[in-house]
Amino acid sequence: MALPMEKPAPPQHIAIIMDGNGRWAKKRGLPRTAGHAAGAESFRTIANYCRTLGVKYLTVYAFSTENWKRSQEEVAGIMKLLRSYLEEALRDMEKNRVRFRFFGDLTRLSPELQKLCSDAQNRSEEYDVQVNFCLNYGGRDEIVRAARAFAQDCRDGRHSPEDLSEALFSGYLYSADVPDPELIIRPSGELRTSNFLLWQSAYSEFVFMNVLWPDFTPEDLDRAIEEYHRRNRRFGGT
Ligand code: FPP
Repeated sequence: MALPMEKPAPPQHIAIIMDGNGRWAKKRGLPRTAGHAAGAESFRTIANYCRTLGVKYLTVYAFSTENWKRSQEEVAGIMKLLRSYLEEALRDMEKNRVRFRFFGDLTRLSPELQKLCSDAQNRSEEYDVQVNFCLNYGGRDEIVRAARAFAQDCRDGRHSPEDLSEALFSGYLYSADVPDPELIIRPSGELRTSNFLLWQSAYSEFVFMNVLWPDFTPEDLDRAIEEYHRRNRRFGGT
């Protein structure tokens, strides 16, 4: 009798570009903010599912450095969703066993949202999954800030330029203590990285899917993970 096939372990770090909220709303004749609200629900479902699967890190692109160009109403709508999610998460921290980190320059956020981010980040009880929220985040901005911080350390005598290695540079990024994502998923049919995790994605497998983020289900995540397992990861070797 054939033994049932064991599911291979999921990647330890999955990153997602939560794209397609606007189109999802447009298709239904709803305001864009309704698409983001539905996207926030998808995020809740997928974060829970990642925890069930044993994924250790989930990084999501929630707001980019370029997203400030959107209407004031849309920006305020996304910020409101983040606020209510973090308030709820702070209440349920022990039950959900999630730890939060934030990648991005938070100083442009409202003082209230900054406080929620720092409260969530400072609460690091027992946890199963770490969620990294990219907020006012851009991959190029992250690299420029890291380069600036290293230059400052050289000026202050803590380092000299010859010290710089890939490992040392990684330590200046928002993701300093987080392993690189093995899998990056972009739903919504767009085939771009849009300034997401530029440094960290050097060897990531990208899976692009034709589903809009608010329609993304745990089965879609299973499909993306299956696709990841089908690929032969060689890291430049043979
Ligand atoms: C991209 O879709 C999505 C965003 C810019 C915002 C993502 C934010 C959320 C899902 C809500 C955040 C809150 C929580 C709790 C995670 P788009 O608007 O560019 O879609 P489109 O390309 O179809 O217009």
